[in-house]
Amino acid sequence: MSLRPAAREHLFTNRTVDRYRRALADGLDRVATRISSTERPFTGVTPDQLALEVSAVDLDRPLGDVREALDEIEDVYLRDAVYFHHPRYLAHLNCPVVIPALLGEAVLSAVNSSMDTWDQSAGATLIERRLVDWTAERIGLGPAADGVFTSGGTQSNLQALLMAREEAGTGANLRILTSAAGHFSVQKAARLLGLGPDAVVVVETDRHRRMSPTGLARELQGCREAGQTVMTVVATAGTTDFGSIDPLPAIADLCLAAGVWLHVDAAYGCGLLTSKTRRHLLDGIERADSVTVDFHKSFFQPVSSSAVLVRDRAVLRHATYRADYLNPARMVEQRIPNQVDKSLQTTRRFDALKLWLTLRIMGADAIGELFDAVVDRASAAFDLLSEDPRFEVVTRSPLSTVVFRFVPTGLPADLPADLARDLADRANLHAREALAASGAAVVAGTTVDGQHHLKFTLLNPETSLDDIAEVLELVAEHAGRFVREQTPDLTYSVG
Ligand SMILES: Cc1ncc(COP(=O)(O)O)c(C=O)c1O
Repeated sequence: MSLRPAAREHLFTNRTVDRYRRALADGLDRVATRISSTERPFTGVTPDQLALEVSAVDLDRPLGDVREALDEIEDVYLRDAVYFHHPRYLAHLNCPVVIPALLGEAVLSAVNSSMDTWDQSAGATLIERRLVDWTAERIGLGPAADGVFTSGGTQSNLQALLMAREEAGTGANLRILTSAAGHFSVQKAARLLGLGPDAVVVVETDRHRRMSPTGLARELQGCREAGQTVMTVVATAGTTDFGSIDPLPAIADLCLAAGVWLHVDAAYGCGLLTSKTRRHLLDGIERADSVTVDFHKSFFQPVSSSAVLVRDRAVLRHATYRADYLNPARMVEQRIPNQVDKSLQTTRRFDALKLWLTLRIMGADAIGELFDAVVDRASAAFDLLSEDPRFEVVTRSPLSTVVFRFVPTGLPADLPADLARDLADRANLHAREALAASGAAVVAGTTVDGQHHLKFTLLNPETSLDDIAEVLELVAEHAGRFVREQTPDLTYSVG
């Protein structure tokens, strides 16, 4: 069946570069206009409202025209998207992105290299390898280090745990030790690797939410006594909820003594690799057997961009499978490089190009400056909250996270403690939802010691302390009003 000419005009080829230029210019213009005019990080649209707009689109009746399609995505996407570049988006580990990386994104998707084999990527393979080496060198993993780009921290952690499991042997009773503040992708990886429901052992944390070395020593001993094999300790350099960094040197000592693989999940904290003033906070990471880094968190890269690095390149063989059509053994003999031998994926994006252009245009120091700025801001936000009697703040993060909660004051002394706790929980939950519904700010939430808390993850250097102070006022207003409405018979007063 031959393609109709109209269809061919949509293919990006040597004949259609003008159409490509026009379509992308229209798209860029739309995004630029939207970004420059966004007054709130979110409109507060509900899933039901937006579902109506999305389901009204007839996918079997193409519009045929770029501008009409862009008008339509204004309604189904751009108008109500959540905008991470907005200074009052304070919620999850999402960053505003740097322009060199956006340029990389446009180039890589147009050329559309696939990172599996040399004959689908050529220079891209070498560029990714240079960036893997650059990252491993910043970490200090040594001369035998290697790694591969992945889709994100979840995949990086999965691959690291796969390698650790293979190195430990596939016997029964394998255990993974990580702290209570570790990322849930560790549990997920354990499940995907077919380990039992008890495979992940939670090590206690100290009051700063860092893994306790004493607790780790105890769990290692416990596993030994129970005849269990610890296949890896997962330390976290930048916990998702608290931004805490586990004591890497002490953990590395314990792993060395026990002969256990150390994986450091630095999905969040990896930004410190570029910091001129805080790199030392990652000291000990160079002793890891494997490391997860998420460039799409603290390197200001667009999703996706992550990597898993290993101290000994030989362990990457645990991801190697051969297919005659793709990566036959003779390629190794012919010294033709390929990345598929190291990856869980086959067809894979050339995400490395974004980081490459970032380093070539702005440089690593500039990334470090941006990350340092948000860490400084988080520290100032912590001080602000500590001085405000309306709030309780959990712990000062060495990174850019602030966990806190509104605490109703002026409640009657005879109000039972469980009711007061429940009221505080609901008030904080309500404040978060009310803020999102108003679109004035987006903040995250989490549970700390069974109590609902609010969370800022600051990744936008444009977020000022005034923005933070304004958001805190809004939180106090929403939460305070909620408490007053719930307790009309109490003589309650909120500041
Ligand atoms: C510490 C940590 N590890 C792993 C992940 C998972 O990364 P991704 O969302 O890129 O899969 C996250 C995500 O927030 C994280 O905070």
